[in-house]
Amino acid sequence: MAAAMTTPVEKEVVVDRVVFALNGQRYEVAGVDPSTRLLEFIRTQTPFKGPKLGCGEGGCGACVVLIAKYNPKTDEVTEFTASSCLTLLYTINFCSVITTEGLGNSQDGFHAVQERMSGFHASQCGFCTPGMCMSIFTSLINADKSKRPEPPKGFSKLKVSEAKKAFSGNLCRCTGYRPIVDACKSFASDVDLEDLGLNIFWKKGDRNPDVSELPSYTLGGGVCTFPDFLKTELKSSLDHLNNPCIAASREGWYHPRSIKEYYELINSCLFSDSVKVVVGNTSSGVPGYKDQDLYSKYIDIGGIPELSNIVRRESGFEIGAATSISRTIEILEEECESISSPNGSVVFRKLANHMSKVATPFVRNTASIGGNIVLAQRFPFPSDIATILLGAGVTVCLQVVAERRQITLEEFLEQPPIDSTTLLLSIFIPHWIPDSGTNTSLLFETYRAAPRPLGNAVSYVNCAFLGHASVDEQSDSLVLSNLRLAFGAYGTEHAIRAKKVEEFLTVSYLRFLKASQSLESLWPVVLLIQQIQMMSAICHYQRDRETFSSDDYKPVGEPIKKYGVELQASGEAVYVDDIPAPKNCLYGEFIYSTQPLAYVKSIKFKSSLASEKIISFVSAKDIPSGGQNIGSSFLFGDEPLFGDPIAEYAGQALGIVIAETQRYADMAAKQVIIEYDTEDLSPPIITHGEQAVEKSSYFDVPPELYPKEVGDVSKGMAEADHKIPSTEVKLASEYHFYMETQTALAVPDEDKTLVVYSSSQYPELAQSVIARCLGIPFSNVRVITRRVGGGFGGKAFRSFQVATAAALCAYKLRRPVRMYLNRNTDMVMIGGRHPVKAHYSVGFNSDGKITALHLDLLINAGISPDASPYIPGYIISSIKKYNWGALSFDIKLCKTNNSSKSVMRAPGDAQGSLIADAVIEHVASVLSVDANSVREKNFHTYCTLQLFYPDSAGEASTYTLHSIFDRLVSTSSYLDRAESIKEFNSNNKWRKRGISCVPLIFNVEPRAAPGRVSVLNDGSIVVEVGGIEIGQGLWTKVQQMTAFALGKLWPDGGESLLERVRVLQADTLNLIQGGLTSSSTSSESSCAATLQACNMLFDRLKPVLDRLQQQSENVSWDTLISQASNDNVNLSASAYWVPGQVSNKYLNYGAGISEVEIDLLTGAITLIRGDLVYDCGRSLNPAVDLGQIEGSFIQGIGFFVYEEYITNSDGLMISNSTWDYKIPTVDIIPKQFNAEVLNTGYHKNRVLSSKASGEPALVLASSVHCALREAIRAARLEFAISTVSGRSPLEFQMDVPAPMTLVKELCGLDIVEKYLECLSTCERAAGA
Ligand SMILES: Cc1cc2nc3c(=O)[nH]c(=O)nc-3n(C[C@H](O)[C@H](O)[C@H](O)COP(=O)(O)OP(=O)(O)OC[C@H]3O[C@@H](n4cnc5c(N)ncnc54)[C@H](O)[C@@H]3O)c2cc1C
Ligand code: FES
Ligand code: FES
Repeated sequence: MAAAMTTPVEKEVVVDRVVFALNGQRYEVAGVDPSTRLLEFIRTQTPFKGPKLGCGEGGCGACVVLIAKYNPKTDEVTEFTASSCLTLLYTINFCSVITTEGLGNSQDGFHAVQERMSGFHASQCGFCTPGMCMSIFTSLINADKSKRPEPPKGFSKLKVSEAKKAFSGNLCRCTGYRPIVDACKSFASDVDLEDLGLNIFWKKGDRNPDVSELPSYTLGGGVCTFPDFLKTELKSSLDHLNNPCIAASREGWYHPRSIKEYYELINSCLFSDSVKVVVGNTSSGVPGYKDQDLYSKYIDIGGIPELSNIVRRESGFEIGAATSISRTIEILEEECESISSPNGSVVFRKLANHMSKVATPFVRNTASIGGNIVLAQRFPFPSDIATILLGAGVTVCLQVVAERRQITLEEFLEQPPIDSTTLLLSIFIPHWIPDSGTNTSLLFETYRAAPRPLGNAVSYVNCAFLGHASVDEQSDSLVLSNLRLAFGAYGTEHAIRAKKVEEFLTVSYLRFLKASQSLESLWPVVLLIQQIQMMSAICHYQRDRETFSSDDYKPVGEPIKKYGVELQASGEAVYVDDIPAPKNCLYGEFIYSTQPLAYVKSIKFKSSLASEKIISFVSAKDIPSGGQNIGSSFLFGDEPLFGDPIAEYAGQALGIVIAETQRYADMAAKQVIIEYDTEDLSPPIITHGEQAVEKSSYFDVPPELYPKEVGDVSKGMAEADHKIPSTEVKLASEYHFYMETQTALAVPDEDKTLVVYSSSQYPELAQSVIARCLGIPFSNVRVITRRVGGGFGGKAFRSFQVATAAALCAYKLRRPVRMYLNRNTDMVMIGGRHPVKAHYSVGFNSDGKITALHLDLLINAGISPDASPYIPGYIISSIKKYNWGALSFDIKLCKTNNSSKSVMRAPGDAQGSLIADAVIEHVASVLSVDANSVREKNFHTYCTLQLFYPDSAGEASTYTLHSIFDRLVSTSSYLDRAESIKEFNSNNKWRKRGISCVPLIFNVEPRAAPGRVSVLNDGSIVVEVGGIEIGQGLWTKVQQMTAFALGKLWPDGGESLLERVRVLQADTLNLIQGGLTSSSTSSESSCAATLQACNMLFDRLKPVLDRLQQQSENVSWDTLISQASNDNVNLSASAYWVPGQVSNKYLNYGAGISEVEIDLLTGAITLIRGDLVYDCGRSLNPAVDLGQIEGSFIQGIGFFVYEEYITNSDGLMISNSTWDYKIPTVDIIPKQFNAEVLNTGYHKNRVLSSKASGEPALVLASSVHCALREAIRAARLEFAISTVSGRSPLEFQMDVPAPMTLVKELCGLDIVEKYLECLSTCERAAGA
């Protein structure tokens, strides 16, 4: 009995410990706060760091672990994935947990999954990789347990078709997924290894690659997932577990084993608002239902046997409410197999199929079916499950204190929200069967229209339709009976039945519909069915591509695997949050303004459990005298760390809450109450349209950065046959969505010095901002950055705030302080890409030749200048990819009360390219010609290229765009496909396809960079460079460059040196002037600096080598270094590479073709095929460059199509979670994706002839947007839809992004509805 607890519950036994195995080791945990999540425990209390925190809401998969459970009765172990960020530690009592470290590691050897992920180049920043490995591994071992036939040796029983689903919920922002799919497919028993992409196991083109070349895989995974000691312990504890007392922990975890015990608990004085009843606790990941405060007590109802019962009856079966969604799917599938009647299993099959798209595998595995329904009952939650079960006529069994009730799900949903006195015990799914006597068929369909087809996206709309259909022989009409039409939708209270429609269809239709016409006419039911079906189709995709590599600078130019990639896969790679917390470490979380422009009158905290955790609150008042309120800075000005005394935008930091754990700090920050005052303040400027313009609120663009106009636009307009007057196109913002959010750890040191570990793309500037904030010399601040879990520009200037805030707190509190922004805060505060409003006026001739373009651009820069004055130049540079004849513009860089917009992969270029192609497409639609012909008509000649890009056009021989375009058009069979699409469109009313080909010209300007190469006495080599490894493979290229340059002194050549090269983390006091890692050029610059430093060493070592070679021809590297050391040769060389003044800038070329299909009624988008050709000069590493190209293309698809950056009227970002903000997942990438890296030979002035690859290909994703426009055009043509009266249906504007909701709208669904109404009326008339 828990003496310490004041509870009247009579029978209570203390469970004062949680016992489990973690990677085979026994853990016994006592005295833990019951709200502790498994992830938090693993990362802070154990040596394992593999599972990462990416979102904390079950939406990204970075934290995925394997959980194994043992059933002592059957002696069976079951394994499943779980999101450890949602799993409560107490729920894993007597479970075994495996993280990626448990699969393999650098000491014991890596696992085949880790090695294949590495060898297939499937990891870039590596932050998602441990979670990917766990999802793939668990899929393999579960497939291996199936009754499928034994696969050939070395393979798993997994099938190729299951590869994508294996990690369908895991997000990766870097790779574009294709190589991850390949790594996973390599295990599949039915794979054709030749189909797999670039890897280190065999060369591209090798005939008949063999499985023996791959890291070997043992059937079953080869890892003990449940250790024997835990089985023994579990068995011996069964008596204890069967004890009829209520299991409870001193800390407040209650585990009733009967309904009676449950009610005893809730009737006791224990029960208060701070008690949470849970099963899987996944609802804590659902925005809107997330915990707003800490709970001191939990009641885990998962152990009540009635809630886990499965009872099979003739009339259907009953599933306990605590059954997981995954297990429910299995049961439904098992039921299908046991049903022999032909159509009899349709309901179960379709329910299972629909449920497998709910959430993600790792959420479904722990989320209970009852928890889902209760969420739907209590809140306006758009549950798929409630809708489809409503359609299936489910009843529920409830326990309301002493009473048990059986009611329909419909009645349950309509009741007032239940409280904890009601328990949902089970659901009963009836067995619907066709009536063979009356020749009745059973119809059942379920649908979901969601941003992603395979799941990990809550649906906009979901529905389920059930009914019996038969034909009345006498009247030859269709008879419908038992109709149930259930609909659920985002934003509605709960799922409902469309009873009037049911009635109408049952009563009215049967009177006049002929059976032959019925399927066509049963609108909305059947038509919707037909149209939405496409969305459910599972994509199969192929991949094919070539790379051309060169041997001249070996190992430079080799597609070697990424430096340290296995460490990323095994979770051993250290990111900032993986650095063990120093003694006495505290944790901070920002509180931010929700008002755009207001005085902050007071900051208080609600009285709550979470508030009690606050140790300190740090604000502008704590900035030391001599320091400044500065949180970011660049060439054009500073940005304050805190809004003080005025908050200038919604999302601005106002202070930092300090607590003993990160979760406490996060929860405490939610308790804030801020009082604002707007008196005397003019209204904020939220939009970069009218509001900013009216008030002339602009940032200056220095004349040297303001882009140059070309030619005489008035003359060009006068010469034009046609003109399009001012037309608008809008591009919204985009959030970087690096998988690792902004983070820093600041450790105070002696004499007012600090070490700050920062996940930053610009440690050098972070150092100065921190020092200025604290009023100390720069030399007092050491900023260290080892690797960054994805940056994409977001950790350039936006990383300073977190680093400075952590430093300020550490400085004030004299204790180490860590800050790891939670995903929602990160999304709100960090800003993103620049939104742009463009108006264009264009003049052109009847043959498609454009003679003049004028643009008015409004760019939203947000509150501070950041790097925004560069953006106009980037946008215009990208627009100049076509020869416009003459080009003029007026660009306003608007200062608004929004978070500061910053650089994001291909900043400005992404927007500019889209604007350019919008103009081209508009011209083509006015002329009613193929957009491609207009594109080609307006391609630059080398002469006009020089005119438009005077500083970077380079030599004529390097202008490869024409040949790239021609090559792509031919290799992708563009013309044939364009013809087939026409045919497809004329044969399909409700689905349309589009294809588009977009060229790329991307201006690149390398920057100066430092490098130091040192050879140690044992011959090992360490390299320091200014560039930061953010996943782009910079370290790998530096490693190759070092090996190449010093390899000239090594008898076996550079390749043998690779192993000896170690690239070090950036340290601002060790290697100064590190500069900014961005603009795709840091790899080149760092390689150039490395090469210079190596050449210095070469010059020093060569005479020693020559001398030694006089004595012996074969001089080993070790002998050379040893002799040089004895001779006091300086074995460390530093260089500062400064790009040449002449021809520093250069152009990158490429082209992309995308083919899409849209569903007119839902707007659903399918990417059928993507083809890219990209000129890499001479690639330093084709595998790395291909990864960059593919990854940036897929990221670009996110920008142009999927990612909706939504703000409220105050400018506060409200799509601030994985729930609302949808980056591409594996299920939306093109089904067929071909990317080709062209090695175009010698390029003067380039680093070993290489060209940048990190950003440009993102721009090519605008081809998807253009292809969508083509498809929509086909739809509008068919239905003669026009947005503006008097305008051709072909002329319409499509903004960025263009998610399915916009596609649907532009297809004119409302007009389709009218069309259907009309159809229906006609049929009625005909039938009457
Ligand atoms: C990332 C993510 C994506 C998702 N996507 C989808 C989706 O696409 N479609 C969809 O429909 N759902 C989706 N969900 C919701 C998910 O299905 C639910 O969170 C889950 O089913 C809840 O079950 P649980 O066991 O975790 O409940 P818990 O979180 O443990 O509990 C939820 C609530 O229900 C109460 N409760 C639980 N069981 C009972 C019971 N038997 N009797 C009375 N009260 C009870 C609890 O007290 C609590 O208030 C998603 C969730 C996440 C995290
Ligand atoms: S951190 Fe758990 S799913 Fe994202
Ligand atoms: S490698 Fe997947 S998120 Fe970076």
